[in-house]
Amino acid sequence: MNPPRIDLRSDTFTLPTPAMRNAMAAADVGDDVFGEDPTVNRLEALAAERMGKEAALFVTSGTQGNLVSLLSHCGRGDEAIMGDQAHTFVYEQGGSAALGGIHPRTVATQPDGALRLADIEAAIRSDNPHFPVSRLICLENTHNRCSGAFLTPAYTSSVAELAHRHGLLLHIDGARIFNAAVAQNLDVKELVRDADSVTFCLSKGLSAPVGSVVCGSGEFIYRARRARKVLGGGMRQAGILAAAGIVAMNEMVERLADDHAHARLLAEGLSQLPGIRVDPEGIQTNIVIFELDHPTLTPTGLQDALRQRGVGVLAIGGPRLRAVTRYGIERGDVEEAVHVIRAVLG
Ligand SMILES: Cc1ncc(COP(=O)(O)O)c(C=O)c1O
Repeated sequence: MNPPRIDLRSDTFTLPTPAMRNAMAAADVGDDVFGEDPTVNRLEALAAERMGKEAALFVTSGTQGNLVSLLSHCGRGDEAIMGDQAHTFVYEQGGSAALGGIHPRTVATQPDGALRLADIEAAIRSDNPHFPVSRLICLENTHNRCSGAFLTPAYTSSVAELAHRHGLLLHIDGARIFNAAVAQNLDVKELVRDADSVTFCLSKGLSAPVGSVVCGSGEFIYRARRARKVLGGGMRQAGILAAAGIVAMNEMVERLADDHAHARLLAEGLSQLPGIRVDPEGIQTNIVIFELDHPTLTPTGLQDALRQRGVGVLAIGGPRLRAVTRYGIERGDVEEAVHVIRAVLG
C-alpha cells in the first residue's frame, strides 16, 4: 500500500534531507567494529559533547539503544523500574527480560509522562534474599504514549537524586529528547545532566534515515559497545549512516519548533470536531493523542477511512488515536488533514 499523502502516523516517516544525502555520498568511512570509521567517530564525539557525557555509541535503533543500556547497567535477575506506559515496557518485546534476564518493575506512568517519586521509592527493594536487586530507573522524555509530554530538568534531577541515594542508576529513553529541549527552550544537556545514560534517536524528528545514539560515561559506553556487538549491531562502514546523523544534529534541531506549532494547530482543529476529545493546551511537542467517541466509527474505522482519503493516523488502543507532526508536514497539510477528518466524521 502506498504511504498516505499526509502521513501523520509517526515521525519515523521523515525522509533524509538533500544535505544528508550529499553528506552520505561524500562520507569518509572505515570498519567501525575496529573503531576505524572516522565519520562514526565524529558522530559519537559530537553526540557526547551535545549531551555533556564522556562518550557515545552509534546504534541501529532506539530499541537497540535502550536494550544495550539496560544490558550494560543490569545483570540477570536485577530489576529495572519503569513506567507502565514506557516504550521500554510496552513496545520493545520485553527485550531486556527476554535477552538479559532483567526483571521489569512497573509503576504508573502519570498523564504528564512522569513517574511519582513516592511510587518509585516504594518500588525500590530492600536487601532481602527473596527479592531481585533494584538496579535501574528508566524515564522517557518526551513520552510517546503521553502525547509527547516533556519532563523538566528539575524533575529529572529529582529522580536521579532518588536513584543515586538508593544506589540505583538512571537511564533516559530520550528518543525525542531534542523535542523536549526545544519545547522548553533549553540546552539538551540540562535534561540529562544527572542521568547515567541516555538514548536519543536520529531517525525520528531529526530526519536521519537510520540510527540512534547512546551516551554516558566512558566505562558505561565500553560495556554498551560489547552489548551492541552481541546483539548483532556491530556495523562496518556505518559512516554512510552516521554522516546523515551529523547533519541531523547540526541542522535539524531548531526546526522541531515548527513541528510543535503544527501539532498545536492540529489539536486546535481536532478539538472543534464532533466526537473528538483533545486538549490543545496539553500538546507540548509533536505528538497529538486524541480520543474518538462517535456513534458509528471506531478508532480503527476512522484510521482506515482516513487512509483511503490520503491521511495517515494510528489507532493506538481503546478510544485513542495518534497523529505526529514532522519534517515534511507543513501548515497546509495540517489544515487539510483537519478538513478531511471533519468530512469523514460527518
Ligand atoms: C519513546 C521511544 N523510545 C524508543 C523508541 C524505539 O525507537 P526505534 O523505533 O528506533 O527502535 C521509540 C520509537 O517510536 C519511542 O517512541
